[in-house]
Amino acid sequence: MVYSRELRPIPFFSFHCLWNEEQGFLLVLFSFLLCKERRAELSDLLHSGVERVAQQINNEVKDGNHMAETEEETQKLKIYHITFSPTRGSYHYGSYLANKLGTEVLIDKTLPAERIDDCVLDQENQIIVVSYPCYGGRMPSLFSAYFKNHVHLAKGSSVILLTSYGNRHFDDALVEGFDLVKEKGAEVIGATAMVTEHVYTNKVGTGRPNTSDYAVLDAFSSVIQRRLQQGEKLTDVEGNRPYKTGAAKKAVYFMPERNEALCSHCNACYAVCPTGALSANDPQACLHCLACVKACKSGALTMDMTYLQGAVTFLETHCSKQRESIYC
Ligand SMILES: Cc1cc2nc3c(=O)[nH]c(=O)nc-3n(C[C@H](O)[C@H](O)[C@H](O)COP(=O)(O)O)c2cc1C
Ligand code: SF4
Ligand code: SF4
Repeated sequence: MVYSRELRPIPFFSFHCLWNEEQGFLLVLFSFLLCKERRAELSDLLHSGVERVAQQINNEVKDGNHMAETEEETQKLKIYHITFSPTRGSYHYGSYLANKLGTEVLIDKTLPAERIDDCVLDQENQIIVVSYPCYGGRMPSLFSAYFKNHVHLAKGSSVILLTSYGNRHFDDALVEGFDLVKEKGAEVIGATAMVTEHVYTNKVGTGRPNTSDYAVLDAFSSVIQRRLQQGEKLTDVEGNRPYKTGAAKKAVYFMPERNEALCSHCNACYAVCPTGALSANDPQACLHCLACVKACKSGALTMDMTYLQGAVTFLETHCSKQRESIYC
């Protein structure tokens, strides 16, 4: 920044200085000895001239900085981020990582309307973060089906898998993603399982994400940058094949219930439902993700936890010890 200042150390003299705070003085001193009126006139003239020069230099410096920033922006890598994230935990982690690696190009596939179109990323050398939650130790089936049938990747593109999980375990959520990516001829260059607070109880994964989680992502991002430069890829990730299957379930369908007396008809719940179960009033389509319940600020939506109580008790009894987020 360049500053200008008029100084009058003794009568009849005035000094006009231009200086730069980083580099010291640039231009110093005009002095004159005249009658009082003439001196004031000339002093004003000089001062405004000096001010203008300072302003011009500052503008040029700003333009230069702006151009440098623009060049830096365009040089940043585009990182495509495909996400399925009903309660936004996976999305936030994926977004953080994508923006650490370059400039995020978000491809959100959480809502039904967002899954109408295929996702075509068929240019060579694209870098893609895929983020999704772990449900029952797996990728959510709705997202794995979409990924399998509607995501098109160029052979050899570089994929980074990110699953978020509620501090129990991520089991086979990464390995399932790994296999789907390999089926498409793309490469997995890194994978991470990040802890969040469990959507069913705040006593499990309490306070996550925390600073250690973001530090894990920072370290992961440096590893990914090195792998991109050196062309390294993963040959497998943690998990089992065949993938985990849930215990045989009774066909009990349930979904959140609305208390009309409390409802303000704001529609926030419909706007976040990843399946359309809420608008169709179809408990069979409900994922039990609780996105709608969390979106309702009037407390009008509640989930009857009768069917989930067993899971909550298990989680609170066995999974309250904080786990570390990991990457490979
Ligand atoms: C239906 C369902 C199943 C879940 N299964 C697991 C699980 O197997 N292991 C785990 O640690 N967390 C599990 N969670 C917690 C989620 O993985 C966790 O809250 C995740 O961060 C949610 O992601 P999102 O915010 O991107 O939707 C489950 C949550 C739901 C709704
Ligand atoms: S209705 Fe079911 S699927 Fe839809 S947001 Fe609510 S809990 Fe999730
Ligand atoms: S978010 Fe709550 S208040 Fe708004 S429409 Fe849904 S139930 Fe009603």
